[in-house]
Amino acid sequence: MATTKNNTLKLKFDSARKYAPALESKSAATIDARYDLFINGKFEKPQSKKYFSTINPATEEKLSEIADANAADVDKAVKAARAASDKYWKKMPASERGKYIFRIARMIQERARELAVIETLDGGKPIRESRDFDVPTAANHFFYYAGWTDKLAYAFPGKDPQPLGVAGQIIPWNFPLLMAAWKIAPALATGNTVVLKPAENTSLTALKLAEIIREADLPPGVVNIITGAGSTGAAIVNHPDINKIAFTGSTDVGKIIQRAIAGTNKKATLELGGKAANIIFDDAPIDQAVEGVINGIFFNQGHVCCAGSRLYVQESVYKEVVRKLKDRLETLIVGDPMDKNTDIGAINSKEQLNTINKYLKIGQKEGAEMYQANVEIPSKGFFCRPTIFTNVAQSNRIAQEEIFGPVLTIQTFRTDDEVIEKANNTPYGLSAGVWTDKGSKIFNLTTKLRAGVVWANTFNQFDPTSPFGGYKESGYGREGGLHGLAPYLNLG
Ligand code: NAI
Ligand code: MG
Repeated sequence: MATTKNNTLKLKFDSARKYAPALESKSAATIDARYDLFINGKFEKPQSKKYFSTINPATEEKLSEIADANAADVDKAVKAARAASDKYWKKMPASERGKYIFRIARMIQERARELAVIETLDGGKPIRESRDFDVPTAANHFFYYAGWTDKLAYAFPGKDPQPLGVAGQIIPWNFPLLMAAWKIAPALATGNTVVLKPAENTSLTALKLAEIIREADLPPGVVNIITGAGSTGAAIVNHPDINKIAFTGSTDVGKIIQRAIAGTNKKATLELGGKAANIIFDDAPIDQAVEGVINGIFFNQGHVCCAGSRLYVQESVYKEVVRKLKDRLETLIVGDPMDKNTDIGAINSKEQLNTINKYLKIGQKEGAEMYQANVEIPSKGFFCRPTIFTNVAQSNRIAQEEIFGPVLTIQTFRTDDEVIEKANNTPYGLSAGVWTDKGSKIFNLTTKLRAGVVWANTFNQFDPTSPFGGYKESGYGREGGLHGLAPYLNLG
């Protein structure tokens, strides 16, 4: 009798983990078979005559073909941006410029469903994430910066703010539409024109944004969106008529860009990697903290530069935290990103999955103990089980280097000073999190942690009004908020 009851309970538990599928429909999205370059207000064939495929990383199926821009294409886009700057954008009254940016924001909202579906198909992130975070936050950035357009003189009193000219912008694959919004919105609000290149794995939503910009009737050449891989990015960086480079991506490419523009008049903001510490004190609300840790590293596959990839737990609550984390890990749903139940979608590319798997091996070799959730993963596509490493040493590579996947290292500490030292002991400094009941502890840590953003009793919160950016090898310059306007202006 008792056995039957236990079996029934077990069955119930298993079926609770396997929710009935709740698939988002693909019908909201139209994806053309081929995309050209958006230059001077029109889609144009690349002079290179070359195209590359973009795939759905959850199924490995080809979605579309994307133009591969060469240096001649980049030159054409930069010339279009320069002409648009001189002819229209610089001369236009600021309030008129603002109207265009508001229009883009509203059109993103109108096409939110389509953009979310395409983001998920092209990049592998859960539809819940694209629908509830990426797309609305992208629209919010345009709304927010549209509001600043005619108030720049108040933002920088006595400074006579003037646009720099043409901005070259290069973005990564983890937040494709949102990064495009982060880059384009402040550039337009400050009167600059743009040449933007999305990442080669995830160009589709930027190309949809190009369609929106065309429909919004922006003067031709104000925004140019060109596609391609690293060499296209390098052609933007090295073009002599670009006034500013805004880059988000790996620290390695950030360093290449820094070297390339040294000795030129080009300005730059670089938003690079991270290895954020998430710190739990023994007086923290533990369940809330555990949920914050899960949200900080496992949702969105750990493809977040500010992901909380290193957990520091005060010794007295270590066992409780690890037990609760492991329990929670077992309930995470890994799989089809188009399913609204999914917590962890597909790893963005085969290369990135290889990188993550390489670090899983390194961690085990270094003597750390690996624990993976006992969850099913699809046989096709690029997927990774959420993974925890305990018994980690501060010098281990898994605790020092950016893995950019659903992989968490856990270490312990006893005192405030010890955890501050450990948290600061990486080459990065983008973000950090502190979980404690005491305001004084929060203030002590926020002043001593060398990170651009420190969250207290929460994690991964974003708002267009808050500045974001790094210390050390996480880059320099700030994006977002009032701070995000200055890098696009000459403040005489
Ligand atoms: P990446 O830095 O190579 O790519 C980012 C962007 O830079 C892409 O648009 C790419 O086409 C472009 N790019 C590449 N080489 C360039 C060059 N020489 N000049 C100008 N532009 C260039 O990043 P990747 O290879 O996709 O990812 C590698 C690692 O970087 C990841 O494992 C992760 O650790 C980190 N990463 C960090 C991101 C962040 O948000 N901070 C985002 C993406 C990756
Ligand atoms: Mg893709």
